[in-house]
Amino acid sequence: MNQADLTANQQTAMLADRYTQRAGAYEALWSPIIRPVGERLISRLPLSSTTRSVVDIGTGAGALLPTIKRAAPSAVIVGVDRSPGMLRLAKDKHSGPLALMDVQNLALPANRFQVAVVAFVLFHLPYPDQCLAEVNRVLQPRGAVGTVTWGSENMAPANAIWDDELQGAGAQILELPAVDNRACCDTAQKMTALLGKAGFVSIKVWSESIEHRWRPDDHFDYQVRSSSRLRLLSLSEKDREACLGRIRLRLSSADGDQYVYRGEVFMATAFKADHPSDNH
Ligand SMILES: C[S@@+](CC[C@H](N)C(=O)[O-])C[C@H]1O[C@@H](n2cnc3c(N)ncnc32)[C@H](O)[C@@H]1O
Repeated sequence: MNQADLTANQQTAMLADRYTQRAGAYEALWSPIIRPVGERLISRLPLSSTTRSVVDIGTGAGALLPTIKRAAPSAVIVGVDRSPGMLRLAKDKHSGPLALMDVQNLALPANRFQVAVVAFVLFHLPYPDQCLAEVNRVLQPRGAVGTVTWGSENMAPANAIWDDELQGAGAQILELPAVDNRACCDTAQKMTALLGKAGFVSIKVWSESIEHRWRPDDHFDYQVRSSSRLRLLSLSEKDREACLGRIRLRLSSADGDQYVYRGEVFMATAFKADHPSDNH
């Protein structure tokens, strides 16, 4: 089967499976890099006055749940995600409810939550507008939402060595374009428009930069367990070992600058209108 034969639903299910396969690597090696951004978003949400309920949309391995709990200690905090493997890790950090569901179709009651967090999720969705409409539906009137999405990213130059050697070895990956939807939400204007269309008001969007200098061993580990995992697995064991040997050799002369990652994020807060007509 090629990507043209896959429906958006099938690609969503495959993405969830990919997250399950790489959940441990995500939690150990990537989450610490982006978690501070999510925590800064949480500090901008009205959580200290939230006493009843919060939903973390696409909670993943639950990286933000302890911070949300500290900010709103008496609230019930619900985490939802489409990846069973990510939710299993969330369970270790969170004693509240966790549920497997597609965030474009929330099996949650209307007008229930005071705050919703949507961190690093919208760009994975074939229908981000539908997700935000669902978030709007489950929030109480005047409920708050916070979002984070990617703007531009400059991968560590060392990544290019991996791409080059994997390509040379004939490694394959099945691309999932329906769930690589960065263009939906990679500017302040697009985020403002998406939130407005979903019925949110008092929208504030700002950007931040992230810079991370990978430790070479962590970068190698993350490539093997996550970024390059499927391409490596597409090779025979013998070809894979040979490819990894060539990568190691080329990386042995890489200096620290080869490991610098830079990214830009767009963060937003907004509120559900008090009355449906308020958003016009
Ligand atoms: C980059 S992680 C972000 C996790 C978490 N919010 C954080 O900040 O660490 C993206 C998460 O979105 C989830 N996801 C992607 N598409 C989804 C969908 N359609 N429904 C529910 N979860 C989805 C993935 O399973 C993954 O756990």
